[in-house]
Amino acid sequence: MNKNNNWKVLDLFCGCGGLSLGFMKQGFEIVAGVDNWKDSLITFEGNHAGAKSILTDLGNFDPIELSKMIGVVDVIVGGPPCQGFSISGKRNPDDPRNQLYAGFVKTVDHFKPKAFILENVPNLISMAGGKIKDEIINDFSLLGYEIKYKVMLASDYGVPQNRRRVVFVGTRGPNKFEFPESVFNDQKNKITTSQAISDLPEESIEDGTEHKISPTSEYQCLMRKKTHKIFNHQITIHSQKTIDTIALVPDGKNFKSLPTHLQNTRKVNIAWTRYNSMKPSLTIDTGHRHHFHYQYNRIPTVRESARLQSFPDDFVFAGTKTSQYKQVGNAVPPLMAEHIAKALLVALNETYS
Ligand SMILES: C[S@@+](CC[C@H](N)C(=O)[O-])C[C@H]1O[C@@H](n2cnc3c(N)ncnc32)[C@H](O)[C@@H]1O
Repeated sequence: MNKNNNWKVLDLFCGCGGLSLGFMKQGFEIVAGVDNWKDSLITFEGNHAGAKSILTDLGNFDPIELSKMIGVVDVIVGGPPCQGFSISGKRNPDDPRNQLYAGFVKTVDHFKPKAFILENVPNLISMAGGKIKDEIINDFSLLGYEIKYKVMLASDYGVPQNRRRVVFVGTRGPNKFEFPESVFNDQKNKITTSQAISDLPEESIEDGTEHKISPTSEYQCLMRKKTHKIFNHQITIHSQKTIDTIALVPDGKNFKSLPTHLQNTRKVNIAWTRYNSMKPSLTIDTGHRHHFHYQYNRIPTVRESARLQSFPDDFVFAGTKTSQYKQVGNAVPPLMAEHIAKALLVALNETYS
């Protein structure tokens, strides 16, 4: 039983708020999201009722000012960009990107939350032979936190996508957090791309239009639970050459299925890839246009990408289409975040009841 489901959360580098959404769904109170990107904050604000959105450069700010705005928080979550770490394992204090991770550490130091969640790209663990990971653990240990970490695979938690993220969980005092068990650990029961998006039409839909196709999977019912309307489903119009080329690639295949003279038309190894309708999707990115719909001769729309990231249909993205793709691709899948939040709730209630 959750004895207290009202823990206050501050989301740093919040983007559109995928991580926060998962916590919100588990009853945490999202007090504020901080980012230096206006579009993402407009989306954040529109989808996290009651939360403040704060436009700030987290590489150059004073946590005291932040606490004047939001008061006390119990949990800090966030994914600082990791580029400030060098592969030698030493952080270069003169590199401005380094200030972003430092910003996260200094905010934890100032607010002294009961727990924090720091998520990042999985190869952070192995960078510089593990020195980066060790440094993170060391930095927070010095602040009095006990750390656990794990690389989590989103499709293990009902997300129709094989996205991996490393998640560090720190608690003040003994760390009672247990990483959630994977629920969909058999390839056969993972949510597939077609289960995720087959009810979304080939053509563009004007924002706010009602669905004309009934849901065909439990996952689609879940995504449509709070709205019958479709948003952010404007298709990309490709050149005829692109349409003709991708039309030659079968479901789940890539450039290797093309005639030899077309195989090298894009010089990346992910070129001309169609999602596999029978598997979770590849990692949703910020809009590089190399991954195509498993059936239609176009890239997925923002809404299809959002579905593959487990954003429900009532979560509406603001900004230009390019900006929306970036917000979706940057996010922690809300369903995976929800599993983390649920496990943290257990640990917090056990420690503080
Ligand atoms: C990986 S995304 C975060 C995604 C988010 N956790 C989610 O689940 O939706 C990283 C975010 O860091 C933000 N960011 C990068 N540099 C920043 C800075 N100097 N100050 C504040 N935010 C910054 C970016 O705008 C981006 O939204």
